Amino acid sequence: MNHLRDQYGKEIEDVLARYPETQKRAAVMPLLYIAQREDGYVSTQDMDDIAELLAISTTDVASIVGFYTLYHDEQAGRYRIQVCNDLPCALRGADDFLDGLCDHLGVKPGETTPDGVVTVEAVMCLAACDKAPMFQVQSYDGIAYHEVQTVKSAVKLVDGWRKEKASG
Ligand code: FES
Repeated sequence: MNHLRDQYGKEIEDVLARYPETQKRAAVMPLLYIAQREDGYVSTQDMDDIAELLAISTTDVASIVGFYTLYHDEQAGRYRIQVCNDLPCALRGADDFLDGLCDHLGVKPGETTPDGVVTVEAVMCLAACDKAPMFQVQSYDGIAYHEVQTVKSAVKLVDGWRKEKASG
């Protein structure tokens, strides 16, 4: 039984139709996107299903999930704040920014706030090195970049999400 195919059969067929039979494994990225879309992460079951659909191993699928910061294998908050603290950003204060934001939210990098609104993560270069401190936000609405940030500006953003959540 393939849960992903049961749930998104037509959409998956359309994706697979774009690739020649011998290149099916190249469809792993769009299939991961479909799997992650609803819950914000790719479950072990999803990885098994994708592996079966593409006749590759679950380890191959998991290695792609692990490599790209846009894919996740664990459930997180409604918003993922991904702070770049790679070297160029660290030289512009990214570590202090990350510490300050985490302190304010009462979490450590990788953790989610108790209200489930925000997960804070440290990631590698996001190609905005001269705009640090910077982060990208992943949510069900897509991805947004926030550059030249302060703890105050980031907290303001989080407060806005919390208000949105409170108002339903
Ligand atoms: S090192 Fe942070 S965006 Fe490049």
